[in-house]
Amino acid sequence: MRAYIEDIAGHDGQQVTIQGWLHNRRSSGKIHFLILRDGSGFIQAVMSKAAVGDEAFARAGHLSQETALSVTGTVRADARARGGYEIDVVALEVHAESHDYPITPKEHGVDYLLDRRHLWIRSERQVAILRIRHEIIDAVRDFFNGRGFVLCDTPIFTPAACEGTSTLFPVPYFDDATAYLTQSGQLYNEANAMALGRVYAFGPTFRAEKSKTRRHLTEFWMVEPEMAYADLHDVIDLAEGLIGAVVARVLDRRRKELAVLERDVTRLERVTPPFPRITYDEAAALLQEKGLPFQYGTDLGGTDETVLSEHFDRPVCVTHYPASVKAFYMKPDPGQPDKALCVDILAPEGYGEIVGGGQRLDDLDLLLQRITEHGLPQEAFEWYLDLRRYGSVPHGGFGMGIERCVAWICGLEHVRETIPYPRMLYRMYP
Ligand code: 4AD
Ligand code: MG
Repeated sequence: MRAYIEDIAGHDGQQVTIQGWLHNRRSSGKIHFLILRDGSGFIQAVMSKAAVGDEAFARAGHLSQETALSVTGTVRADARARGGYEIDVVALEVHAESHDYPITPKEHGVDYLLDRRHLWIRSERQVAILRIRHEIIDAVRDFFNGRGFVLCDTPIFTPAACEGTSTLFPVPYFDDATAYLTQSGQLYNEANAMALGRVYAFGPTFRAEKSKTRRHLTEFWMVEPEMAYADLHDVIDLAEGLIGAVVARVLDRRRKELAVLERDVTRLERVTPPFPRITYDEAAALLQEKGLPFQYGTDLGGTDETVLSEHFDRPVCVTHYPASVKAFYMKPDPGQPDKALCVDILAPEGYGEIVGGGQRLDDLDLLLQRITEHGLPQEAFEWYLDLRRYGSVPHGGFGMGIERCVAWICGLEHVRETIPYPRMLYRMYP
């Protein structure tokens, strides 16, 4: 019977066939210890000369890393084994050989590994990360689908900027026209929210930022909910609920993978709403108190975010940034118009911003003024202005970067390991 390693506990005592690859082999006299992987897990298969005969035993002594094979044997519980089970081999079939596999159990440099990313993703650590990524994405979808949000896709080819013109990737688009890869689905999402009430977009987004940091990719995945009839507090409540649900789900279903990554789960277990909420002014005071050279009125830099997010044991919501450092679509706070009704959520342990959003500017005249002030071409935004001409209502939403979430939840140094094929300033291969 064909079995997947992740289901092995359900086959205790049975004879099964695992189809996979040889991850590692150790031999001692009359026994080969074969570590197999099949994508769903890793398991040790024990092959004794007595069980398979001299010839098959001798052949198995030449098997090398990443050989594709099927192993048939009896599942046996063993408390000392990884995953709690081993397989006593009765037969082994080789499907395809693999010689001189370039990624061995020894240490390799990160550039060497990134050049071989298509193979690196087979390693135990990378498999654990990609499975947690999957769980996070699944949890995000379940969260919104279970709350009346409608998935409404936004375009990737766009005619204009959303998050600032300096970070756009242009693409030739027939007859001398230029399209830009989307930086955010938000503007379309706002239109979708006026049609469907509560929506979310979930897709790849692109930033031509020349940032070479551990938090920046040029292509990343963002989930963006948007709600009609919502204010800043509704937006923060939603983001807080989402983050809490995602962390709880990973803790519930991916303990094994977190253990492979040696993640300190006690830090994640503390991530339960409500999260602390502070204003930009309070954040600025805290940074100055800590002796950082922070200049009031400017945006928070990477180091500022790191320091703030180390100060709290759970994500912290920073609201009311100066309107001047934020995007044109932010609604000013009526009580202090130089501040925006916005929120950035910083993950703990120094991970920095994972969510950015807020309440949108719903007043036509003010929005027109902002578009002019930001030097944006009004024609390109006529459709967006229509949303303020025909039944404008308070509304808002946010964007959460999946890779930054994965990096934080997995406890990784850098976002490059959070996506199968990272796109960065100096890397587009493989
Ligand atoms: O703060 P950002 O730029 O916000 C927006 O794009 C809004 N229009 C979203 C909205 O309100 N619908 O980006 C949102 C999130 C950030 O908090 C971060 O998690 C992630 O997207 N992000 C990046 N992740 C990886 N690499 C980059 N270069 C990123 N830039 C933003
Ligand atoms: Mg932001």
